[in-house]
Amino acid sequence: MAEKRVVNDLAVLGGSPVFPEMLHVGRPNIGNRERFLERVNDILDRRWLTNNGRYVREFESRIAAQVGVRHCIAVCNATIALEITVRALGLSGEVIVPSFTFVATAHALQWQQITPVFCDIDPATHNIDPGKVEELITPKTTGIVGVHTWGRPCAVGELARIAERRNLRLLFDAAHAFGCTHQGRRIGVFGSAEVFSFHATKFLNAFEGGAVLTDDDDLAARIRLMKNFGFAGYDNVIYIGTNGKMSEVSAAMGLSALESMEDIVAVNRRNYGRYRAELSGIPGITLAAYDESERCNYQYIVLEVDESCPLPDRDLLVRVLHAENVFARRYFHPGCHRMEPYRSCSPRAGVPLPNTERLTRRVLSLPTGTAIGEEEIRRICGIIRFAVDHGAEIGGRFP
Ligand SMILES: Cc1ncc(COP(=O)(O)O)c(C=O)c1O
Repeated sequence: MAEKRVVNDLAVLGGSPVFPEMLHVGRPNIGNRERFLERVNDILDRRWLTNNGRYVREFESRIAAQVGVRHCIAVCNATIALEITVRALGLSGEVIVPSFTFVATAHALQWQQITPVFCDIDPATHNIDPGKVEELITPKTTGIVGVHTWGRPCAVGELARIAERRNLRLLFDAAHAFGCTHQGRRIGVFGSAEVFSFHATKFLNAFEGGAVLTDDDDLAARIRLMKNFGFAGYDNVIYIGTNGKMSEVSAAMGLSALESMEDIVAVNRRNYGRYRAELSGIPGITLAAYDESERCNYQYIVLEVDESCPLPDRDLLVRVLHAENVFARRYFHPGCHRMEPYRSCSPRAGVPLPNTERLTRRVLSLPTGTAIGEEEIRRICGIIRFAVDHGAEIGGRFP
């Protein structure tokens, strides 16, 4: 498709789209296909498809060794991993969480009849604002869940100090943060436990998958029981449990992805650098930065569209991009506290979270990963630059 010269060339105004097919955020990284298929053949030959098989055990021990924790318990996805961990930690009553997160963080609590109490974020980090946590603590509060949004570590030290002072449990939703560090230490080692997601869209992909990491032997033992129906042995059930097992084929994918991890980081990092260069100087557009002194997985390309942007708002930019077949996402619009059931029935329903609300109006995520290259990034940024340059005119066409 030709470059855009006038606003009528934009697909949203009837022109033809820049991309013939939709570019998605979180298109999976495939890793080493040959190694994956070798493992799948072995799984089929041995007819051991699930139930704590060889590949799940290998996946767990490699992740535990890489992160530097005693226990990694592989689970079928991070939502179930969070639910099991919340239960195994004995959380009840109210738990403080950021509203600016994927809704699974809140649902994992509510599913256990625990009320998520939504905390505002620090606009500079997009993560829970530790300065706003203490005012939310009530006699019913039993814990805090920090989320390392975009793989950028939340205020681990401050949250740990609050949790200790107020006798609360501290859990981290590290769904985005596999491969990242905080002050040189791997995410996975903090709090009572941390939970990774290995969903297909995540940095490390096991089709579907998750894991709980902890140094607490008793907690790990409870989680292992809970994820396998409470079986303590061959036919001995000693606990209430669910089915949170990871399948062998997921572990095979996870292992292959683990082996390709450095290559995937390199691609993500290069893409991030290209986006940064291509977007620089576009008024009102800021790319969320990674701390280059830490290890980052660079899995998310996140923009903020602020008031100085000539386009009337973020949603119009999203509309322009979608029409060009760039499926930009408004993660995490509109914030959990403004979704049902929390919008109506949380004890703090209706209480505004100004930083969260502001960010959810401004933020959008763009495609990255091994499925896109330099040319696609150049074109995506070209659409954004063109739309911003002609923001007032486009805005006039969408009053
Ligand atoms: C912050 C966060 N927490 C939890 C989850 C749930 O992960 P899963 O899809 O593995 O259940 C996600 C998934 O997108 C997430 O982004």
